[in-house]
Amino acid sequence: MTVRVGVLGATGAVGQRLIQLLEPHPDFEIAALTASDSSAGHVYRDVAKWRVDTPIPTEIAEMTVHATTPDAVPDDVDLLFSSLPSSVGAEVEPPFCEAGYVVSSNSSNSRMAADVPLVIPEVNAEHLDLLEVQRDERGWDGALVKNPNCSTITFVPTLAALAAADFTLEEVHVSTLQAVSGAGYDGVTSMEIIDNAIPHIGSEEEKLETESRKLLGTFDGAELTHDGVEVAASCNRIPTLDGHLENVWVEAEEELTPEDAADAMREFSPLDLPSSPDPLIHVFEDPSRPQPRLDRNLGDGMAIAAGGLRESTFGLQYNCLAHNTIRGAAGASVLNGELLLENGYL
Ligand SMILES: NC(=O)c1ccc[n+]([C@@H]2O[C@H](COP(=O)([O-])OP(=O)(O)OC[C@H]3O[C@@H](n4cnc5c(N)ncnc54)[C@H](OP(=O)(O)O)[C@@H]3O)[C@@H](O)[C@H]2O)c1
Repeated sequence: MTVRVGVLGATGAVGQRLIQLLEPHPDFEIAALTASDSSAGHVYRDVAKWRVDTPIPTEIAEMTVHATTPDAVPDDVDLLFSSLPSSVGAEVEPPFCEAGYVVSSNSSNSRMAADVPLVIPEVNAEHLDLLEVQRDERGWDGALVKNPNCSTITFVPTLAALAAADFTLEEVHVSTLQAVSGAGYDGVTSMEIIDNAIPHIGSEEEKLETESRKLLGTFDGAELTHDGVEVAASCNRIPTLDGHLENVWVEAEEELTPEDAADAMREFSPLDLPSSPDPLIHVFEDPSRPQPRLDRNLGDGMAIAAGGLRESTFGLQYNCLAHNTIRGAAGASVLNGELLLENGYL
């Protein structure tokens, strides 16, 4: 039996990716699309400037876009994928959860709330059970689960692989080279970004530094304790279209050689969920890889690529890459939806 799902913010960059991934999905059936009041009441093809690399699905193109309110979404929809601006998500996601909908959200609001699971299924699937605490505390029939920021998702699986191989991480430095699609369609103008790099992305450094510690934390069934690793981030926007590339330095308590790290990343287990790639982390021998244009579509855009592993003055150094609107956003939400289904939350 398929689960009827809706997409909140369906006309945006991430919303379109969600439709691209959900339309052929074996377990989910798209039953509702929402956007802002200016799009509500219109046919989807007329208000979505379709820009993903596969044709707009015919039946989706003809659907009417709803307003983003619980009473506008049909009651028989069980799961909502949210890709709204965070200010909008903060306002509308709680009423949806109160009305009984389970929401798998991309937006940054509430990611760090103590009773909201922030999940990358291959890294911390067990944190999903924080939803029991959330339902007790908030009295919701529905639930709210978040995926992290796109640049957090790119490097945290590599850290989780090292932790799974029993390395105790002490300090991590990460510097990002982020694609323009991460800012949404209206985010960065061509005049700003062509022939340029912008060494500031509002609040992004803080997201990498805090979300990573929550993701690597431990959940005892009642409370989540954030990991003690210290993380410092520096974020840059560059003129690539899709795919965030990141330079990472890791210091561990134990000796951590590039060979040990490569083995740990290669052996880090994928999950048996429909959208989890196998392998999860591709490790390149060629130090000039990964590169955004060549490697962002590995594992249908759901894999993490790593390379350039070497010893440095500041511990292990490597580069990693992920597709920011697939693994870093839409695919991350879909994977969390699959985890919710597998764990009986739908
Ligand atoms: N792009 C990425 O790589 C990425 C990665 C991770 C997380 N995220 C997060 O995902 C979210 C969406 O990002 P995006 O890049 O897809 O943004 P976007 O292209 O600007 O799309 C925003 C969507 O939200 C809708 N919306 C805007 N204001 C609304 C309102 N007041 N009420 C209801 N709907 C409203 C828009 O509908 P209209 O078309 O009607 O305006 C559109 O469907 C953001 O929170 C972003 O931070 C993005």
